[in-house]
Amino acid sequence: MSERVKQLIDKLEKNNILSREEFICILEEYDTEDLEYARSRGRSIAKEHFGNAVYVRGLIEFTNYCKNDCLYCGIRKSNKNAERYRLTEDEIMECCKEGYALGFRTFVLQGGEDGYYTKDRLVALIQRIKAKYPDCALTLSIGEKTKEEYQSYFDAGADRYLLRHETANEEHYNKLHPASMSLANRKECLKNLKEIGYQTGCGFMVGSPYQTAETLAQDLLYIHDLHPQMVGIGPFISHKETPFCEAPNGELEPVLLLLSLIRIMEKKVLLPATTALATIHPQGRELGILSGANVVMPNLSPVSVRKKYELYDNKVCTGDEAAECRNCLQARMKNIGYEIVKDRGDYKK
Ligand code: 5AD
Ligand code: FES
Repeated sequence: MSERVKQLIDKLEKNNILSREEFICILEEYDTEDLEYARSRGRSIAKEHFGNAVYVRGLIEFTNYCKNDCLYCGIRKSNKNAERYRLTEDEIMECCKEGYALGFRTFVLQGGEDGYYTKDRLVALIQRIKAKYPDCALTLSIGEKTKEEYQSYFDAGADRYLLRHETANEEHYNKLHPASMSLANRKECLKNLKEIGYQTGCGFMVGSPYQTAETLAQDLLYIHDLHPQMVGIGPFISHKETPFCEAPNGELEPVLLLLSLIRIMEKKVLLPATTALATIHPQGRELGILSGANVVMPNLSPVSVRKKYELYDNKVCTGDEAAECRNCLQARMKNIGYEIVKDRGDYKK
């Protein structure tokens, strides 16, 4: 074990922040033992705040139409081979109904930036879900909108918003996105979401093309500055119909290290063990929880559309066997000594 890396992990736990150089040192120099040390600190901090509870969110992927063209994403506009679909309001209500019966108390509406779902249609949908399930939290993950639109969704009853910043380094951001998108606008959106009062989530992919220890250090510093209630990270996984089809996938260990570092830095943050992590390792979700993650987000979308919401290749939980994702996760969590709880799982100040 490197004494320097261990000291830096301890310093992060004590001060909640490190310098860019110190983060880079951890990211470049950690060995297997350092990783295990970071994971055990991440795990015990999560235990301190959440016990053995794991929060669960029902993910409803309601449209894969998208006007954007992010170079890494399988549902980018330029992917002419994507089979597009959009759930109707009634179909979405049906997903919530099933989810509620299964014990979900948070629904996440995730989709591409789909022009069909205008502000008025979204407001109507949000109001309908919140009227039927007033005891549930509603999270949106529908991309970049104006502050006024964000305000309307919030007024309609949305509680939380996920918008990964993707990378906090501008040059890197521009290599992952078309010229029509900018890091400045992304950050502006996140600032607006927080100001409006959403529990807000940012995040990034680990192992994305052109990522370096330096850009990751910038991601951690940005998270510290934004101080979001949620952070979503998972490995980059190449998609065959994108410009990054030949790029290697992100690896398990760096994802686990970053989950731990985020937990050590932002002690109460809501931190999912993502589907992408489960996709690169059969025990990905369990390993994520054991590194400090405290949320899982099983799919509630109808099985008939699950394969079509393909942001990356070989996504797990898309076949018939996954109809009961929640039960599967329940068993997996129990197996490592954790319990999925029937709770909104709000951020605790
Ligand atoms: N691999 C992993 N994650 C991806 N996302 C998009 N494309 C990929 C990919 N190829 C992530 C992005 C986005 C979130 C919804 O999914 O970070 O914000
Ligand atoms: Fe849809 Fe990136 S391709 S948000």
